[in-house]
Formats: sequence, C-alpha cells, structure tokens
Amino acid sequence: MGDSAENQYTDFRSVAVDGLPFFTPKQRIPVGTAILDPENGITEETITPAFRPITIRGKTFQNRIWVAPMCMYSCQDGMLSDFHVAHYGQWAMRSSALITIEAAAVTLRGRNTPQDAGLWSDNHIAPLKRVVDLIHPQSQKAAIQLQHAGRKCGVCPPWLGLRLVPDEFGGYAKDVQGPTAEPWNENYATPGEMTEEEIWETINGYGQAARRAVAAGIDVIAIHGAHGYLVHSFASPAIVAAYKELEAGGFGKLCICVE
Ligand SMILES: Cc1cc2nc3c(=O)[nH]c(=O)nc-3n(C[C@H](O)[C@H](O)[C@H](O)COP(=O)(O)O)c2cc1C
Repeated sequence: MGDSAENQYTDFRSVAVDGLPFFTPKQRIPVGTAILDPENGITEETITPAFRPITIRGKTFQNRIWVAPMCMYSCQDGMLSDFHVAHYGQWAMRSSALITIEAAAVTLRGRNTPQDAGLWSDNHIAPLKRVVDLIHPQSQKAAIQLQHAGRKCGVCPPWLGLRLVPDEFGGYAKDVQGPTAEPWNENYATPGEMTEEEIWETINGYGQAARRAVAAGIDVIAIHGAHGYLVHSFASPAIVAAYKELEAGGFGKLCICVE
C-alpha cells in the first residue's frame, strides 16, 4: 500500500504536503484526473482524449490540458514575484497537468523587453522556486521556456507597441545580437553579428539557466525556437546560406541550434 496520501489520511485530519513554508493538504487524487467508472461505460477509451493520462520520459500527466508559455512582461530584473505566484497558481488550482512558465531570458542581453522573466543569475532561483512550490502541491508539473530573443531584443511590451526602448529609458539597443548585422525590420535594433565566442557564451547561458531551473524544481524545460528569436533566426534558410562552414560539412555558428 506504501506511503500514498490516501494511506496517511485519517477520518479527521488532512495530511500536509511536506517541506513547504505553508500548510496545504496532500491530494489523494491529483486534481484534473478523470474518475473512471467502467461499470457505467466510463473508461479511458470513452472519455474525451484531453483527460487520458500520458507518460513522457518517465513523467506521468493526469490530463493533457497544458498551459502554453505566455510572457507577462511583469518582472523587475527578471525576478518572478507575487504576481507570478498568483498567475501560475491559478492554472495549478484549475488542474492543468503541465504549466509552462513564460519565456525566461538566459542572458541579460537576451531579454525581449526589459521586464522579461530571467534565469541569467542564481538570484532568480528562489523566486522561481516559490512559483514551483505552489504548482507541485496541487499535483501539477511545472515547465519553463528558456529564451534569447535575438534580433527582437530591446523593445517595450506589446501594449506599448513593441518599439525599441531608448537608452535613457533602460534600453539596450547596442547590446542586441543576431546571426548577422541585419535588423529584423526598421523598428528593431541593428544587431551586432555574433562571434563564435558570444555564441558559446550564449550556449553556456542556456546550460546555466537549465541548471537553475532544475534547482528550482522545474520538471520540463522548453527552448524557445520560434518567433524569429535567436535560435529561430539561426535556423532561417537565409542565414544558413550565409555560413560557409556548412559547405565545409561542419555546423560552424549553427552549433547554437544543435548544442
Ligand atoms: C499573452 C501571450 C504571451 C505569449 N508568450 C509566449 C512565450 O513566452 N513563448 C512562446 O513560445 N509563445 C508565447 N505565446 C504564444 C502561445 O504560447 C501560444 O503558442 C499561442 O497562443 C498559440 O496557441 P493557442 O492557439 O492555444 O492560443 C504567447 C501568447 C500570448 C497570448
């Protein structure tokens, strides 16, 4: 029978989730689990597929209603706050089996906006852990997306028009990096063409950010490879054609996508 919450419960006392700075009762059945009733024809085959459990790489999710990464542009210095505890906590309490925390910049230069979430320093671990510590006791799993926004760095949030932030308002147009010196379009900064050294610094940034995410208890890590951000822009056919190394059979600067 083991050590399940079910066995530890008494008729009159809820069992606490261990290791938290607050009391929350252990769930006997993870919230968001379909309750099957085969005698009445309710089986995994007859329920809606969204509620069929799924196991991927040893992690079991009780349903497939997962929250996509969604930037909130609401951080100071990349730190998650009470806002994020409430924001992500609401999905956990409403039973999404996997909640993806918004894109977090792996380097300071990799922020899309100055208010992006970040994981570029060890100081970001504790605020992220607070969010994870609310998600886990609700029987849900936590993912985070790691990001470098590449040529799209240094703009204001969408509700301010995604315009380049001037230096005097905390902008960092001169630090923007890309695979070549071509801007995304005229509204964005002209990036510096990344050197191999900068590319390896960034790859290392991804590695360190992943380590920090794991230290905070994150279950799943996603790499942002879309939206014209850094990894995406290196994978563009226009950029690939620019790299002679590829012709020579190596990955050259494209190691950023592979590593
Ligand atoms: C407010 C908002 C913020 C988003 N931020 C991100 C993000 O951080 N990373 C990402 O890959 N996609 C982001 N997206 C895209 C969503 O993750 C998702 O892919 C998109 O909404 C399409 O999914 P849907 O058809 O279920 O809405 C964002 C979308 C919204 C609405």
